[in-house]
Amino acid sequence: MFARFRRRRLHPVLRDLLQETSLDVNDFIYPLFVRSGEGIKKEIDSMPGVFQMSIDEILKECENLKALDIRSIILFGIPDVKDSVGSEAMCEHGIISETLRAVKAAHPDMLVVTDLCFCEYTDHGHCGVLDPVLETVDNDITLNNLAKQAVVHAKAGADMIAPSGMMDGMIEAIRRGLDEAGFSHIPIMSYSTKFASAYYGPFRDVAESAPSFGDRRSYQMNPANRREAIAESIEDERQGADILMVKPALAYMDIIRDIKEHTTLPLAVYNVSGEYSMLKMAAKAGVIDYERVMMETLLGFKRAGADIIITYHAKEAAALLRR
Ligand code: PBG
Ligand code: ZN
Repeated sequence: MFARFRRRRLHPVLRDLLQETSLDVNDFIYPLFVRSGEGIKKEIDSMPGVFQMSIDEILKECENLKALDIRSIILFGIPDVKDSVGSEAMCEHGIISETLRAVKAAHPDMLVVTDLCFCEYTDHGHCGVLDPVLETVDNDITLNNLAKQAVVHAKAGADMIAPSGMMDGMIEAIRRGLDEAGFSHIPIMSYSTKFASAYYGPFRDVAESAPSFGDRRSYQMNPANRREAIAESIEDERQGADILMVKPALAYMDIIRDIKEHTTLPLAVYNVSGEYSMLKMAAKAGVIDYERVMMETLLGFKRAGADIIITYHAKEAAALLRR
């Protein structure tokens, strides 16, 4: 006998009426990796479908994104030169500044977010200036540099700044820097709860940002810690973050839900490189129905509490959502 659950699952239209969560193209931010040069579009072996691109190719890609109704991007830069402080990240003619000016001129209607960190720009690959004694990132010197980098991005046209380095006090320092430079209207999306994850492996191939020694466990969070994850988010809200984030997403669905329930800020999740590559490689091996697994995964983030999903799947998902 059909009873109260199955009776409601019988008619496909009724199933749709009763759907509690849904995905929308407006949920997505698409990551783009930019490097100098012209006509460069180099696919990354560990991330099929993800490219390092020169600025001219980025502009064409924005056209493709808009055709799919994707209107938000987050930029990562691969500089020509790296040094111990990551100077190019704070330079008005750095790769991100040049890209921002070009994208905002050609596509003023897009929301351009910039990732704010130093690991792509330092020769040691860590997320800030090193303390020679502790052999890890010096927190407070890095805060000054983050504020400088944020102002450089804002001047070049960034619509939102997304600091990803997990320094203590970073939101306060960046907020103050932006406000003092006349950019109090620019929101900060904090990578507030970012774990020291092995899922970032493929990203470090694309962004050429793997640390040359050690790891990031003295600044990124221990994946085992749930209370600390909530505390980090509450602290970033206190410091003035406008949007919070959980990263990675897939192995941290409980954290997404926790943070949703403990703060009132909008919440982004970062569906990271390793999560993307797992599905791509499983699809290549013929062991999953890629499109269905992808959509189920993205929907899961929404159900867990995400308002925004930063994902390399955005284009494929957007194309499916239009059908
Ligand atoms: C930079 C940064 C990283 C990612 C986003 N910003 C890498 C890291 O912390 O090593 C990872 C994104 C991904 O894996 O897709 N700090
Ligand atoms: Zn970093």
